[in-house]
Amino acid sequence: MEKAERSGEAVDAGMTDFDLEHYSPDTLALHAGHTPDKDTLSRAVPIYQTSSYLFRDTEHAADLFDLKQSGNIYTRLSNPTTDALEKRLAAMHGAAGAVATASGMAAIFYAVATITSAGQNFVTGDKLYGGTYTQFCFPLKRFGIEARFVDSRDPANFERAIDENTRLLYTESIGNPKGNVDDISEIAEVAHRHGIPFIVDNTVTPPPLFNPLEHGVDIVIYSLTKMIGGHGTSIGGAVVDKGDFDWQASGRYPEITEPDLAYHGVNFWEMFGAHERAVSPGLAYLQKIRLGLMRDLGAAPSPFNSWLFIQGLETLPLRARAHTANALEVARFLRGHPAVASVDYAGLPESPDHERALRYFPLGPGAVLGFEVRGGQAAGRRFIESVKLASHVANILDAKTLVIHPASTTHGQLTPEEQLQAGVTPGLVRISVGIENIEDILGDLDQALRASQEEAAASGAS
Ligand SMILES: Cc1ncc(COP(=O)(O)O)c(C=O)c1O
Repeated sequence: MEKAERSGEAVDAGMTDFDLEHYSPDTLALHAGHTPDKDTLSRAVPIYQTSSYLFRDTEHAADLFDLKQSGNIYTRLSNPTTDALEKRLAAMHGAAGAVATASGMAAIFYAVATITSAGQNFVTGDKLYGGTYTQFCFPLKRFGIEARFVDSRDPANFERAIDENTRLLYTESIGNPKGNVDDISEIAEVAHRHGIPFIVDNTVTPPPLFNPLEHGVDIVIYSLTKMIGGHGTSIGGAVVDKGDFDWQASGRYPEITEPDLAYHGVNFWEMFGAHERAVSPGLAYLQKIRLGLMRDLGAAPSPFNSWLFIQGLETLPLRARAHTANALEVARFLRGHPAVASVDYAGLPESPDHERALRYFPLGPGAVLGFEVRGGQAAGRRFIESVKLASHVANILDAKTLVIHPASTTHGQLTPEEQLQAGVTPGLVRISVGIENIEDILGDLDQALRASQEEAAASGAS
């Protein structure tokens, strides 16, 4: 993308007309994707709460529809506030671009379904967020797209499941809710040996905690609802594309490399591929999402929600560090607590994934951890009912501390066998550690754990 296009036209030399590439994600989180406009001089990104945009004349309108000029037509396709969010996300990842969606689930669906058709498959790690697991097992299956689940701890398992109909590899940066850390770079190598892209859901470890694109990953997915939004106010998602994957080399992606009949014969690879002929290099896959599934299915974010996610991004680096610092304290506290049987957190030295966690997540492997309360299901439920400061909700990575019992909620739609495969044991509690004062968090957990053992003693459980 042209630099001018990325940063907009600067109001005043020296004001915001700087070279974005020299700044760290912490700075880009505050500045990228927006330049105050000349008319209002508004410092904050404005909310463009509009469904449609004036055409200057009929030629302008025709050019926009024919992709001869870039610009806004209708907010289902693009919107200036959402555009600032997308550009900021892209800049923070060193990516070619991003497409924001109305939810994380929509981002996952668009990312996968844009490059898969009936009769084709993709290979995915098996320790996934429950909603993703269900999307892969039910709607995608009904559309004839097969998700092949493998134990993601060994990259060779991905390789064994690939065949000539495989279109992508998929996993999460840190498994939900077991907190497993897999060998992302090696899985990326497997994907690239077979000429297919590697897509990673990085919802639980956004920059500065982790940038998957620096470890061989091609496409990153977010539920913006979580740490990026950061305050539990809005649902949203995004697909971020590094932009250098060669969609043409393997001949497996005709939806991108051949004329698209759904868009009057546009060839996305010719116009937007990773080559010098392209008008906007590196955007072929994202344009296919935007002008294909987004246009046709319509899970576009509201401009107001995009604006809230921009506010979230601005403090994300600070909050991310505060979340992970508290999470490590909580993990250490739980590990030493008599009411806790086990703790799953790759930040603890005894975790089998600790060495990998240090390599991939030097600031700490996120702030979501699982632990087993002694006394099984009854004690786990009593713990959840006893917390006072922590909130019992179906969400993670709000600024507040959150708890849930996965087996009866987020993973409740799965069979007991599927639950175990996803790492969900009956007594597992998932905690998303917030940014409250750490002593206050530990005090609340301690009193709730003590209460859980009264339940266990009363029912005679050990
Ligand atoms: C890792 C992960 N990915 C995707 C999603 C789905 O996102 P959303 O709820 O924004 O649709 C979630 C939601 O919890 C999640 O935890």
